[in-house]
Amino acid sequence: MKSRGERISCLTVYDYSFAHILDQAGIEILLVGDSLGMVIQGHETTLPVSMCNVLYHTQCVSRGCNSALVIADMPFGSYQGSPQSAYENAARLVGEGGAHMVKIEGGVVMAETVTFLVDRGIPVCGHIGLTPQSVNQLGGFRVQGREESTAEELRRDARNLEEAGASLLILEATPAQLAKGITDSVSIPTVGIGAGPDTDGQVLVLYDVLGLFPRKSPSFSKDFLEGKGSVLEAVKAFVDDVRARRFPGPQHSF
Ligand code: KIV
Repeated sequence: MKSRGERISCLTVYDYSFAHILDQAGIEILLVGDSLGMVIQGHETTLPVSMCNVLYHTQCVSRGCNSALVIADMPFGSYQGSPQSAYENAARLVGEGGAHMVKIEGGVVMAETVTFLVDRGIPVCGHIGLTPQSVNQLGGFRVQGREESTAEELRRDARNLEEAGASLLILEATPAQLAKGITDSVSIPTVGIGAGPDTDGQVLVLYDVLGLFPRKSPSFSKDFLEGKGSVLEAVKAFVDDVRARRFPGPQHSF
């Protein structure tokens, strides 16, 4: 799709019924995100999410999905310790959970782990920019890469993850210009969230897209259910807007 210039749509999802609707809407990627810690479990961050939680939700989603790619988000503490422990946990998400790919947060520092998983048959999605599992180090949920030095670090992270064998790269909360530069410089697809209109695809949290989350949704998100008659119509509108490059607009970008 990247080489054909076609935009990729992705939403987070955590259960069978929503997975079925998203799949019907023609979405390309279903992400069982650790955002489930916030939107399903009501925590302030994603840090309390366990392997058991992600495994359970991945199993639910896999049962509802026929054609989309299912990515399971590796939770905090399940992959940072060593490549071997990352492999053991990732293998469970693929073998028992039915995921096609796993996602891990971090750049250069995770390159060895990415290669370890890929060499053993597990496709990996990288995730750089705002990495919510590092919220305590980042000092909050903040846009990343505004200064030239941090922008350069993110460019290096993207190159390293591609060289390490990552198949896909999520860019979260980065200036649009930086995300465009990274997207143009790597051959793997980038999927942005709060990263402007020029990434190869877009991902949002399902509960923001449906206006279900009771707390404040991020400014880069949009309620697609407003004015629609059903969840299926709302998700189709998201897919259509991503494909036609109508979403994200300037008001959703940094
Ligand atoms: O867990 C999640 O929902 C994510 C997306 C925000 C990319 O990682």
